[in-house]
Amino acid sequence: MKKIYFITGNKGKILEARNKFSTVDIEIVQKNLGYPEIQADKLEDVAGFGVKHIQERFNEPFILEDAGLFIDVLNGFPGVYSSYVFHTVGCDGVLKLLKGFNDDKRRACFRSVFAYMEPRGKPLFFTGECYGKISTKMLGDHGFGYDPIFIPDSSSKTFAQMETEEKNCFSHRGRSLNKLIEFF
Ligand code: IMP
Repeated sequence: MKKIYFITGNKGKILEARNKFSTVDIEIVQKNLGYPEIQADKLEDVAGFGVKHIQERFNEPFILEDAGLFIDVLNGFPGVYSSYVFHTVGCDGVLKLLKGFNDDKRRACFRSVFAYMEPRGKPLFFTGECYGKISTKMLGDHGFGYDPIFIPDSSSKTFAQMETEEKNCFSHRGRSLNKLIEFF
């Protein structure tokens, strides 16, 4: 069976990738190698820098992902700063920023960019988006990160109220993984 290494320390991302790849003959192997996450305007640039750093140290085909939550009324914030914001103020901090805003001011989009790299190759990018809104309180205990406060369009549940398979049907990552699987 073909093996693809997924460079991440995030078990939630691994779970979601394995759920998607369970339909094809490819094994997703977690490799928890650190890499610098540069300050950049685009997720592609963050992922692109990360894959080049790993390629110099790791001699197998691998994938790496950068994702972010972009809130319309905050001009896309936290976006590329999603990780920093999550580790400083978390879901609570985002809810506070949107306090008193009604539904049409709570529009947001999750974006995912996968980069696939082969030894001595050039990175290939696969993107996925999911539009929805920020809930008014945290709901659910599945998933990770901002899952308890994000309700995708065409659902009334947050990602954290969904099992992995259901989240994958709607999510930014489910969509970028579909493109990756199609490529393989
Ligand atoms: P990362 O840099 O791709 O790991 O993600 C940036 C931030 O967004 C981290 O704090 C993640 O927890 C969060 N995040 C990324 N993907 C998701 C998701 O699918 N659901 C909820 N939060 C996410």
